Amino acid sequence: MRGRNSSMATPLRICVLCLIFCVFQWCCGEQPPNYTFVREASDVSPLREAFDYIIVGGGTAGCPLAATLSSKYRVLVLERGGVPYGNPNITRLENFPRTLADDRPDSPAQRFISTDGVISSRARVLGGSSCLNAGFYTRASPEYVARLGWNGTLVNESYPWVEAVVAHVPIVREWQSAVRSGLLEVGILPDNGETYDHIIGTKVGGSIFDNDGNRHTAADLLQYADPQNILVLIHANVHRILFRTRGMRRPRAYGVAYTDSRGSIHRAYLSRRTSRSEIILSAGALGSPQLMMLSGIGPADHLQSFNIPVLSDNSEVGAGMADNPMNAVFVPSPNPTEISLIEVVGITSFGSFIECSSGFTGNGLAANSSEVFLGIMSPQRDRSIITHNPCLGIANRYPIIEPTCITDCYYTYFYGLYYRLCRKLRSMLKGMFYTII
Ligand SMILES: Cc1cc2nc3c(=O)[nH]c(=O)nc-3n(C[C@H](O)[C@H](O)[C@H](O)COP(=O)(O)OP(=O)(O)OC[C@H]3O[C@@H](n4cnc5c(N)ncnc54)[C@H](O)[C@@H]3O)c2cc1C
Ligand SMILES: *[C@@H]1O[C@H](CO)[C@@H](O)[C@H](O)[C@H]1NC(C)=O
Ligand SMILES: *[C@@H]1O[C@H](CO)[C@@H](O)[C@H](O)[C@H]1NC(C)=O
Ligand SMILES: *[C@@H]1O[C@H](CO)[C@@H](O)[C@H](O)[C@H]1NC(C)=O
Ligand SMILES: *[C@@H]1O[C@H](CO)[C@@H](O)[C@H](O)[C@H]1NC(C)=O
Ligand SMILES: *[C@@H]1O[C@H](CO)[C@@H](O)[C@H](O)[C@H]1NC(C)=O
Repeated sequence: MRGRNSSMATPLRICVLCLIFCVFQWCCGEQPPNYTFVREASDVSPLREAFDYIIVGGGTAGCPLAATLSSKYRVLVLERGGVPYGNPNITRLENFPRTLADDRPDSPAQRFISTDGVISSRARVLGGSSCLNAGFYTRASPEYVARLGWNGTLVNESYPWVEAVVAHVPIVREWQSAVRSGLLEVGILPDNGETYDHIIGTKVGGSIFDNDGNRHTAADLLQYADPQNILVLIHANVHRILFRTRGMRRPRAYGVAYTDSRGSIHRAYLSRRTSRSEIILSAGALGSPQLMMLSGIGPADHLQSFNIPVLSDNSEVGAGMADNPMNAVFVPSPNPTEISLIEVVGITSFGSFIECSSGFTGNGLAANSSEVFLGIMSPQRDRSIITHNPCLGIANRYPIIEPTCITDCYYTYFYGLYYRLCRKLRSMLKGMFYTII
């Protein structure tokens, strides 16, 4: 995460597009909740109280964390975006590409392009990337939980808490059923039926979209919060963590500085009521290290090059960033297919996950247009990284198809499988609208 400018930096080592998505954990109401504790930052000034916990970033991780802590502590959440409610671009499944295509300054999606030339987006809205993502919901494998050193019992107890609000078992229709059969026929076994568990084989997983196509985001998890103990400020962009250094062996964080929608600067402070008070950064994989660097914690030479005073020289901050290798194939179709996001996944024994979506025709453009914009799943890429197309043999009847793959994520075996799956799907559904395999 170094370079370009002080607010973003990047050797994101991104391997690309979209047959394989490596799916992460977590994600995220019919009647929008009417939260009394969510306020415009500019309306709450000055802040007259101090907080036991200050959470920077009301996203996928920040919202459930804030709700949990509010059962015992006084919590402040500072979120740079607005609320997702009432915006059909976010709440409706069929609008999935719209937010990603919206690059206005106040869009819920902040587009960026990595140093590898890959288009991606950072969320800018309460609920975070669960308001932009493809909505696939799955539990972590017990091995993953153990590797991170988390308490497996507590993790298992937490799943139903999340799932009761955001996760749904999809009704699998024509296209996703074909994907499922295709995966099974090419040997991604066993058939694991419907399950949230992450296990090798083919399964119908969860979705944060319900069967009416409404998205349920991490912001919905704030309904678990104690309204008396939480304040969520929106359009509050934190730009610095405040540290006390005098008379301390190590710097100690005591507050944050943030800007509201009018550009006014405010401060929020930790209380001394509990010795456990903390400032928690949940501003995303890019936002959290960025904020540390802006606050003087990071590689000294890098900070100095931006005239940021060094508080703590730490070469690890912002280092080792990597994206999920993804390889996408777009298959235009003469016939409409259902609109679907990810419902079925093939979890292979060699660590690749195979997912498909269907039916998105882009922003009112012709279904066969190469201009369809699907954000990170788009065919629009830096052409210098396009090297190989394992599916062309099947799809070359159709115009665009710009599947890409970075050389070092090749798997011969994988492509064999991929090729057979493409052929299978083509024969099962004779052509389809922009389908991402
Ligand atoms: C297009 C797309 C599709 C995806 N599909 C899936 C999928 O199907 N399934 C899946 O499991 N995962 C998917 N993911 C990944 C998943 O959504 C993310 O890994 C996850 O949401 C990240 O959560 P987070 O809490 O770390 O960050 P986020 O949810 O991004 O939250 C960070 C929050 O911090 C706020 N913030 C940042 N900086 C500041 C600041 N300085 N001050 C105040 N607030 C700040 C942001 O506005 C944001 O709300 C997808 C991601 C994308 C982009
Ligand atoms: C939301 O709740 C507040 C306070 O209870 C109330 O004044 C307001 O009318 C409610 N708004 C909606 C849209 O229900
Ligand atoms: C939805 O996104 C489109 C761009 O794709 C944008 O033009 C439109 O204004 C957005 N709608 C809302 C309510 O933000
Ligand atoms: C959590 O649940 C999974 C099954 O979903 C199980 O395999 C695992 O052993 C459980 N972990 C603990 C620590 O109980
Ligand atoms: C793990 O979590 C469970 C459930 O909350 C708790 O009972 C147990 O004490 C925790 N174990 C450890 C080692 O913290
Ligand atoms: C795309 O579809 C339009 C009709 O919607 C058609 O006129 C055009 O020829 C098609 N383009 C290609 C490249 O197939």
